[in-house]
Amino acid sequence: MVIVLELYSKSLKTTYKNHLCSKATFFILLINLIKIALPFLLCCNGQGFRMRYDTFHEQPDVRFTGEYLFIGYTNNISFPIICSNIYWEVNNQDNCILIQAREIDTNYDGKIDEFTFKLTANLPKNVKIHSFELLLPIDYMLHETCPINMQSMIFLQETLNNFMNMLSITSVLEISQKFPLQCYSNYMNRDYNSSTVTFENFETYSMDEIVKPFNKRNLTTHLSDTYKSYDINTMETFLINFNILYPEHIFYYEVGFWKIVKSLWIQYLSIYIVLNWLIKKAKDYIFDKHLILFYETSPINKM
Ligand SMILES: *[C@@H]1O[C@H](CO)[C@@H](O)[C@H](O)[C@H]1NC(C)=O
Ligand SMILES: *[C@@H]1O[C@H](CO)[C@@H](O)[C@H](O)[C@H]1NC(C)=O
Ligand SMILES: *[C@@H]1O[C@H](CO)[C@@H](O)[C@H](O)[C@H]1NC(C)=O
Repeated sequence: MVIVLELYSKSLKTTYKNHLCSKATFFILLINLIKIALPFLLCCNGQGFRMRYDTFHEQPDVRFTGEYLFIGYTNNISFPIICSNIYWEVNNQDNCILIQAREIDTNYDGKIDEFTFKLTANLPKNVKIHSFELLLPIDYMLHETCPINMQSMIFLQETLNNFMNMLSITSVLEISQKFPLQCYSNYMNRDYNSSTVTFENFETYSMDEIVKPFNKRNLTTHLSDTYKSYDINTMETFLINFNILYPEHIFYYEVGFWKIVKSLWIQYLSIYIVLNWLIKKAKDYIFDKHLILFYETSPINKM
């Protein structure tokens, strides 16, 4: 026995005709117009064009650049406690006896999750620190949706009560965005990849002139959820133990033109396919039942 399979089927084409200025022509034209326009109205008037902004989650790749600047203001105005490796000229008066920085990747994914910075400064007799500034430049990178490389900083300003000389701080590095990011997936944005510390030497250094332009940037980092505990030790030293977490963030970005077009096209198509099927069924029904006037040319009559 030979098995015969149905490989393909084709129906004979029946043509229905009418004059250009007839009700039937107008009716079919209208239906075709609806078929094209309706999916457009449904998808593009809805959330389509409002999708200009979107968000993504990412843990930034943050690296300590190794530079630091500490200025402790003391009860002797002419004797600030300064430690820095940014400004080498302060080195001969550097009061720090120990600087320790540790970057920890707790989940071994190649990104730093936690950063610890410890500083110990020598205090001469009768010198007490009442407030200080600590500046730690960082290299900040995003790799996935919106590749970015920028130079930022961890900046801490503290006023101390009762001349405490041991300070433990824990904080979280957060991102501040003034505008949605503009992303190009194959392009590394380096608009802000210049050093935040712009002064050549310590003589001309001004914290105000570092912080102001930094704060004007569209994209900056800041510390949040900062918790502190103070203590006093009897030694002539000043100690800071600073711990910062680098968690995942939500970033806002501007969705590119082609991505919007692509997404709208998919939405359009999915509505169009269903509508096209429905309208085809409706047309079959209308012509089968002769609900409108037309001339029929059947292929059977031709043969
Ligand atoms: C303040 O510091 C300066 C410079 O080290 C020193 O000459 C001066 O004696 C100090 N003043 C007091 C009141 O300790
Ligand atoms: C950004 O700047 C840092 C430090 O100046 C440099 O090492 C890095 O290569 C720069 N990144 C890009 C993408 O240019
Ligand atoms: C900041 O973002 C706004 C809006 O996207 C843009 O017009 C401006 O040029 C950006 N500024 C810089 C310095 O990139």
